[in-house]
Amino acid sequence: MKHKVLLVTSNDHKLKEFQAMMDESMFELISLKDVGYTEEIIEDQLTYHDQAVKKVAALIELHPELIIIADDSGIEIEAFEYGPGIYSARFKPEMTQHERNQWICEQCFQTKQSHAAFVCAIACYIKDQPIFVTVNRCFGYIANEPSHDFGFGYDPIFAPEGYQETFQMLPSSIKNRISHRALAIQALMHYLKGVL
Ligand code: IMP
Repeated sequence: MKHKVLLVTSNDHKLKEFQAMMDESMFELISLKDVGYTEEIIEDQLTYHDQAVKKVAALIELHPELIIIADDSGIEIEAFEYGPGIYSARFKPEMTQHERNQWICEQCFQTKQSHAAFVCAIACYIKDQPIFVTVNRCFGYIANEPSHDFGFGYDPIFAPEGYQETFQMLPSSIKNRISHRALAIQALMHYLKGVL
Protein backbone atom coordinates (compact mmCIF):
# COMPACT_ATOMS: atom_id res chain seq x y z
CA MET A 1 0.00 0.00 0.00
CA LYS A 2 1.30 3.48 -0.89
CA HIS A 3 1.40 6.14 1.82
CA LYS A 4 -0.26 9.45 0.97
CA VAL A 5 2.08 12.37 1.61
CA LEU A 6 0.77 15.94 1.60
CA LEU A 7 3.42 18.46 0.48
CA VAL A 8 2.66 21.92 1.85
CA THR A 9 3.36 23.95 -1.27
CA SER A 10 1.59 25.60 -4.17
CA ASN A 11 4.87 25.89 -6.09
CA ASP A 12 4.69 23.47 -9.05
CA HIS A 13 8.44 23.47 -9.50
CA LYS A 14 9.03 22.28 -5.93
CA LEU A 15 6.31 19.66 -6.31
CA LYS A 16 8.06 18.33 -9.43
CA GLU A 17 11.42 18.12 -7.66
CA PHE A 18 9.88 16.28 -4.71
CA GLN A 19 8.06 13.90 -7.06
CA ALA A 20 11.30 13.10 -8.88
CA MET A 21 13.18 12.39 -5.65
CA MET A 22 10.69 10.53 -3.45
CA ASP A 23 10.35 6.76 -3.70
CA GLU A 24 7.31 6.41 -5.97
CA SER A 25 6.74 2.80 -5.09
CA MET A 26 6.14 3.77 -1.44
CA PHE A 27 4.65 7.26 -1.51
CA GLU A 28 1.90 9.10 -3.35
CA LEU A 29 2.59 12.83 -3.23
CA ILE A 30 -0.30 15.28 -3.15
CA SER A 31 -0.18 19.08 -2.86
CA LEU A 32 -2.22 21.87 -1.29
CA LYS A 33 -4.18 22.14 -4.54
CA ASP A 34 -5.29 18.50 -4.17
CA VAL A 35 -6.75 19.15 -0.69
CA GLY A 36 -8.25 22.53 -1.68
CA TYR A 37 -6.17 24.55 0.81
CA THR A 38 -5.86 28.15 -0.37
CA GLU A 39 -4.94 30.10 2.79
CA GLU A 40 -1.59 31.86 2.88
CA ILE A 41 0.82 30.61 5.54
CA ILE A 42 2.70 33.73 6.66
CA GLU A 43 6.49 33.33 6.49
CA ASP A 44 7.37 35.13 9.73
CA GLN A 45 9.71 32.63 11.41
CA LEU A 46 13.40 33.42 11.93
CA THR A 47 14.89 30.09 10.85
CA TYR A 48 14.35 27.64 7.98
CA HIS A 49 13.66 24.99 10.64
CA ASP A 50 10.86 26.95 12.34
CA GLN A 51 9.29 28.04 9.06
CA ALA A 52 9.12 24.45 7.76
CA VAL A 53 7.56 23.33 11.07
CA LYS A 54 5.04 26.20 10.89
CA LYS A 55 3.94 25.13 7.39
CA VAL A 56 3.43 21.52 8.51
CA ALA A 57 1.63 22.58 11.71
CA ALA A 58 -0.90 24.62 9.71
CA LEU A 59 -2.22 21.42 8.10
CA ILE A 60 -2.16 18.90 10.96
CA GLU A 61 -5.60 19.62 12.41
CA LEU A 62 -7.19 19.44 8.96
CA HIS A 63 -5.44 16.20 7.88
CA PRO A 64 -4.22 14.34 10.98
CA GLU A 65 -4.15 10.97 9.23
CA LEU A 66 -1.86 12.06 6.39
CA ILE A 67 1.92 12.26 6.39
CA ILE A 68 2.55 16.01 6.00
CA ILE A 69 5.83 17.48 4.76
CA ALA A 70 6.94 21.05 4.08
CA ASP A 71 10.19 22.66 3.07
CA ASP A 72 11.63 26.08 3.54
CA SER A 73 14.60 27.10 1.48
CA GLY A 74 16.83 29.99 0.53
CA ILE A 75 20.19 31.06 -0.78
CA GLU A 76 23.11 32.41 1.28
CA ILE A 77 25.63 34.59 -0.55
CA GLU A 78 29.01 35.81 0.68
CA ALA A 79 28.63 39.30 -0.87
CA PHE A 80 25.50 39.86 1.26
CA GLU A 81 27.01 38.61 4.52
CA TYR A 82 25.46 35.25 3.71
CA GLY A 83 21.99 36.68 3.20
CA PRO A 84 19.30 36.87 1.99
CA GLY A 85 18.81 33.40 3.54
CA ILE A 86 15.30 33.02 4.94
CA TYR A 87 14.36 36.25 3.13
CA SER A 88 15.29 34.89 -0.33
CA ALA A 89 11.73 34.89 -1.64
CA ARG A 90 11.33 38.57 -0.67
CA PHE A 91 14.80 39.84 -1.63
CA LYS A 92 14.79 43.03 -3.75
CA PRO A 93 11.04 42.83 -4.47
CA GLU A 94 11.17 45.78 -6.89
CA MET A 95 13.17 43.65 -9.36
CA THR A 96 12.09 40.76 -11.56
CA GLN A 97 13.84 37.46 -10.79
CA HIS A 98 16.06 37.93 -13.84
CA GLU A 99 17.01 41.51 -12.84
CA ARG A 100 17.69 40.30 -9.30
CA ASN A 101 19.87 37.48 -10.61
CA GLN A 102 21.86 39.87 -12.83
CA TRP A 103 22.32 42.32 -9.97
CA ILE A 104 23.49 39.59 -7.58
CA CYS A 105 26.07 38.41 -10.15
CA GLU A 106 27.39 41.97 -10.53
CA GLN A 107 27.70 42.46 -6.76
CA CYS A 108 29.53 39.16 -6.34
CA PHE A 109 31.84 39.85 -9.27
CA GLN A 110 32.71 43.37 -8.07
CA THR A 111 33.39 42.35 -4.47
CA LYS A 112 34.99 39.00 -5.42
CA GLN A 113 32.71 37.42 -2.80
CA SER A 114 30.90 34.75 -4.67
CA HIS A 115 30.79 31.82 -2.26
CA ALA A 116 27.21 30.68 -1.75
CA ALA A 117 25.02 27.90 -0.47
CA PHE A 118 21.48 26.79 -1.10
CA VAL A 119 19.69 25.67 2.06
CA CYS A 120 16.65 23.46 2.53
CA ALA A 121 14.81 22.49 5.70
CA ILE A 122 12.17 19.79 5.55
CA ALA A 123 9.72 19.13 8.38
CA CYS A 124 7.60 15.99 8.52
CA TYR A 125 4.54 15.08 10.58
CA ILE A 126 3.34 11.53 11.10
CA LYS A 127 0.55 10.80 13.57
CA ASP A 128 1.81 9.92 17.06
CA GLN A 129 5.43 10.82 16.24
CA PRO A 130 7.47 13.88 17.19
CA ILE A 131 7.93 16.24 14.23
CA PHE A 132 11.06 15.35 12.26
CA VAL A 133 13.20 18.16 10.80
CA THR A 134 16.34 18.06 8.65
CA VAL A 135 18.32 21.10 7.40
CA ASN A 136 20.80 20.61 4.54
CA ARG A 137 23.10 22.81 2.50
CA CYS A 138 24.53 22.54 -1.01
CA PHE A 139 27.71 24.64 -1.29
CA GLY A 140 28.86 26.39 -4.43
CA TYR A 141 29.35 29.83 -5.92
CA ILE A 142 27.57 32.56 -7.85
CA ALA A 143 28.37 32.63 -11.58
CA ASN A 144 29.70 35.83 -13.21
CA GLU A 145 26.40 36.17 -15.06
CA PRO A 146 23.06 34.33 -15.18
CA SER A 147 23.14 31.28 -17.45
CA HIS A 148 19.73 32.27 -18.84
CA ASP A 149 16.91 34.73 -18.34
CA PHE A 150 14.49 32.03 -17.21
CA GLY A 151 14.61 29.12 -14.77
CA PHE A 152 13.52 28.34 -11.25
CA GLY A 153 14.41 31.18 -8.83
CA TYR A 154 18.17 31.43 -8.33
CA ASP A 155 19.00 28.32 -10.41
CA PRO A 156 20.47 30.42 -13.31
CA ILE A 157 23.19 31.92 -11.06
CA PHE A 158 24.21 29.12 -8.68
CA ALA A 159 26.88 26.60 -9.65
CA PRO A 160 27.43 23.76 -7.16
CA GLU A 161 30.94 22.90 -5.99
CA GLY A 162 32.77 20.75 -8.56
CA TYR A 163 30.73 21.97 -11.55
CA GLN A 164 31.19 24.79 -14.08
CA GLU A 165 27.47 24.85 -14.94
CA THR A 166 24.65 26.44 -12.97
CA PHE A 167 21.78 24.36 -11.57
CA GLN A 168 19.71 25.69 -14.46
CA MET A 169 22.16 24.25 -17.04
CA LEU A 170 22.82 20.94 -15.33
CA PRO A 171 20.54 18.00 -16.15
CA SER A 172 17.82 17.64 -13.52
CA SER A 173 19.17 14.15 -12.77
CA ILE A 174 22.33 15.82 -11.35
CA LYS A 175 20.52 18.59 -9.48
CA ASN A 176 18.18 15.97 -8.02
CA ARG A 177 21.16 14.06 -6.64
CA ILE A 178 23.27 16.85 -5.11
CA SER A 179 21.02 19.82 -4.34
CA HIS A 180 20.04 21.13 -0.90
CA ARG A 181 16.55 19.69 -1.49
CA ALA A 182 17.95 16.35 -2.67
CA LEU A 183 20.05 16.01 0.50
CA ALA A 184 17.07 16.90 2.70
CA ILE A 185 14.80 14.46 0.86
CA GLN A 186 17.40 11.70 1.23
CA ALA A 187 17.38 12.31 5.01
CA LEU A 188 13.56 12.38 4.99
CA MET A 189 13.38 9.06 3.09
CA HIS A 190 15.75 7.48 5.58
CA TYR A 191 13.55 8.69 8.45
CA LEU A 192 10.25 7.65 6.84
CA LYS A 193 11.50 4.17 5.96
CA GLY A 194 12.62 3.78 9.58
CA VAL A 195 9.30 4.71 11.21
CA LEU A 196 6.74 3.28 8.77
P1 IMP B 1 10.57 29.28 -0.07
O1 IMP B 1 11.23 28.01 0.38
O2 IMP B 1 9.30 29.00 -0.79
O3 IMP B 1 10.46 30.28 1.03
O4 IMP B 1 11.51 29.90 -1.21
C1 IMP B 1 12.74 30.52 -0.95
C2 IMP B 1 13.36 31.22 -2.14
O5 IMP B 1 14.53 30.50 -2.55
C3 IMP B 1 12.50 31.39 -3.39
O6 IMP B 1 12.78 32.66 -3.92
C4 IMP B 1 12.99 30.31 -4.34
O7 IMP B 1 12.90 30.73 -5.66
C5 IMP B 1 14.44 30.15 -3.91
N1 IMP B 1 14.85 28.76 -4.07
C6 IMP B 1 14.69 27.75 -3.18
N2 IMP B 1 15.16 26.59 -3.68
C7 IMP B 1 15.61 26.89 -4.92
C8 IMP B 1 16.19 26.09 -5.94
O8 IMP B 1 16.37 24.87 -5.84
N3 IMP B 1 16.52 26.75 -7.07
C9 IMP B 1 16.32 28.08 -7.23
N4 IMP B 1 15.78 28.87 -6.32
C10 IMP B 1 15.42 28.27 -5.16
